[in-house]
Amino acid sequence: MIDATAPLLSSSAYADAVTAAVRAAAAYYTDGATPLGDDEYDALVRAISAYEEAHPDEVLPDSPSGKVAGGAVVGDVPHSVPMLSLDNVFSGEELDAWAAGLERRLGRPVAAWCVEPKLDGLAVAARYRAGRLQQVLTRGDGLAGEDISHAADAVLGLPAALAEPVDIELRGEVLLTQEQFEAANRLRTEHGAEPFAHPRSGAAGTLRAKDRPYRVELTFFAYGALGLDEDLTHSALLERLAALGANTAASTDAHPLRCATTEEVQRRIEEIVALRAALPFGIDGVVVKADAAADQRDAGSGSRAPRWAVARKLAAEHKVTRLLDVEWNVGRTGIIAPRAVLEPVVIDGVTITYATLHNPADITRRGLMINDQVFVHRAGDVIPRVEAPLTEQRTGDERPIVFPEVCPRCGDAIDTSEQRWRCARGRNCQAVASVIYAAGRDQLDIEGLGGTRAVQLVESGLVADIADLFTLTREQLLGLDRMGETSTDNLLAALEEARNRPLGRVFCALGVRGTGRTMSRRIAAHFGSMAAIRAADADTLARVDGIGPEKARLIVSELTELAPLLDRLAAQRVGTAVTEPQVPAVDAPAGDGSGGDPAQAPAGGPLTGEAVVVTGSMTGPLAALSRNEMNELVERAGGKASSSVSKRTTLLVAGEKAGSKRAKAEELGIRVVAPEEFAVLVAEYLPQG
Ligand code: IVH
Repeated sequence: MIDATAPLLSSSAYADAVTAAVRAAAAYYTDGATPLGDDEYDALVRAISAYEEAHPDEVLPDSPSGKVAGGAVVGDVPHSVPMLSLDNVFSGEELDAWAAGLERRLGRPVAAWCVEPKLDGLAVAARYRAGRLQQVLTRGDGLAGEDISHAADAVLGLPAALAEPVDIELRGEVLLTQEQFEAANRLRTEHGAEPFAHPRSGAAGTLRAKDRPYRVELTFFAYGALGLDEDLTHSALLERLAALGANTAASTDAHPLRCATTEEVQRRIEEIVALRAALPFGIDGVVVKADAAADQRDAGSGSRAPRWAVARKLAAEHKVTRLLDVEWNVGRTGIIAPRAVLEPVVIDGVTITYATLHNPADITRRGLMINDQVFVHRAGDVIPRVEAPLTEQRTGDERPIVFPEVCPRCGDAIDTSEQRWRCARGRNCQAVASVIYAAGRDQLDIEGLGGTRAVQLVESGLVADIADLFTLTREQLLGLDRMGETSTDNLLAALEEARNRPLGRVFCALGVRGTGRTMSRRIAAHFGSMAAIRAADADTLARVDGIGPEKARLIVSELTELAPLLDRLAAQRVGTAVTEPQVPAVDAPAGDGSGGDPAQAPAGGPLTGEAVVVTGSMTGPLAALSRNEMNELVERAGGKASSSVSKRTTLLVAGEKAGSKRAKAEELGIRVVAPEEFAVLVAEYLPQG
């Protein structure tokens, strides 16, 4: 294996590097199943260029440096104007140096910059005559491309007819959005084809394929055009393209932005970086362009790339590594989830050793084997996941992944009737975990009932589920090891207090699948009592904000399964004395047993009508509050708490290290307040003591 990051020390190392890079470039620009990740490829090309600079007489003819697409692909339809590539910079300093170099060359400051996302797909040229789409070409080697007009129908954003009868050539990127990538892989596996390993290879494969029995949709983003008024600034040109009906990045959160100074450029790059994980498509960098036509003309272009634009590359979100093993873990509700053990790999500065594999059917669909080279994807703080194996890299050392035949925790049977396998004993398989969860700070908050004590109670046979906790007697507890009078009385007092926790917390303590803390609070606020929740059918549950028909059905079946436990909890008066603070529902039909929705309750609070998101770590008077307690506070004060920023969000409470949510809120023009300011706003609702 080539070490892509080491300098090349001999002519034979140089020759090996050229061979490896040519092979990787061919894969990258065709079906994309490259043995090198994007970062490694870039590093390899940099090492090759460095060697060539020191040994100019040794440059090999097939060297990728200085060539569009690394010289990997050719086509047979000539481009009217060459389709160039972009030079790369890898840091803010390199970007500043590049900008200074451009201004020196021009002999004047650049009039303005345009900063836009570098879309991670394939470059295409789309030719229109009298406003009608005539032909679509790939970039090829930049001088001639391949005719892929047959694929145009499936490309969203590339209209068959423009809004005006113009003769132009659009240039832009075709890609699979995350959603399209997932849809494509579902379709492919249904048709017995291997899933795509990476959205870009998916886009490449789809564009070139003919006569597939299924249709994969792609998306086009225009970033340039030939044939329009040559004096348009780049940003005006993009606006014109959008007005003609072409899709541009202007329709996204990472839209192109005109910047007057390089400081503004750097700030905008940081904003786009912060938005990256939340974008619905992959970007592998940010492109900085001189905006004025005169600046572009005067800077001109080299043979490979324009001098007026540069790509600030970002660390890749996909990496190739080896799948070492698959572990099967049993969750709190008895779900048996596979987890990939990986050869450690650094993705965007974080070392990844585990990744999610969803469920057994998914493993089968992807055709994964132990020892496979796999693509791993990690975006921002999203859980890393294994995408697909690189089957052409197989060596014969691969082994099938063995699925468990019995529950790996308790040895009982496995219920395989759903995609996600589950221990036949359901949540009882995990009595200890269920008890610890129920006793947690955001649920029943039972002081003195941590991990060790929960294990002791379950192993002694006194406790099999959370209802048993409330039948514990003083004598039983005193009979346990390390349980003195004081600890016993404290635990009994804590249990007594736990009986009267707010309904949302009691409900949350049940660990109903499909509901977490926020959803539990919403359900409690909607129905007002455990009896009303239990009486609800799927249609009634689906009236709660955020519960769709599928989740409603899941909750109903969970509640049926939990009925014996709920009866015993009721008999122990757990969660029965408490009802939520109710206001009459504005929209609920009379007599359906439902209370107010959190969106309306309690009327008159300082946050009435506000949709609030809390992010980052809290400080000042709010420092001690967990995220759940913050959300409870929001709802007490009349607001609606949610975990993600959207157009409907009206207020963001941003603590320290607030990341992408803050960037998104600013982007959407949402009011952002610091924890201290927020504390003043809701002062009378703060928890006492
Ligand atoms: S401008 C002459 N703008 O990145 C101008 N390219 O690595 C050259 N790309 O070949 C292209 N997003 O396929 C431009 N906003 C953007 C882009 C972009 C993605 C691709 C394009 C180009 C490659 C260079």
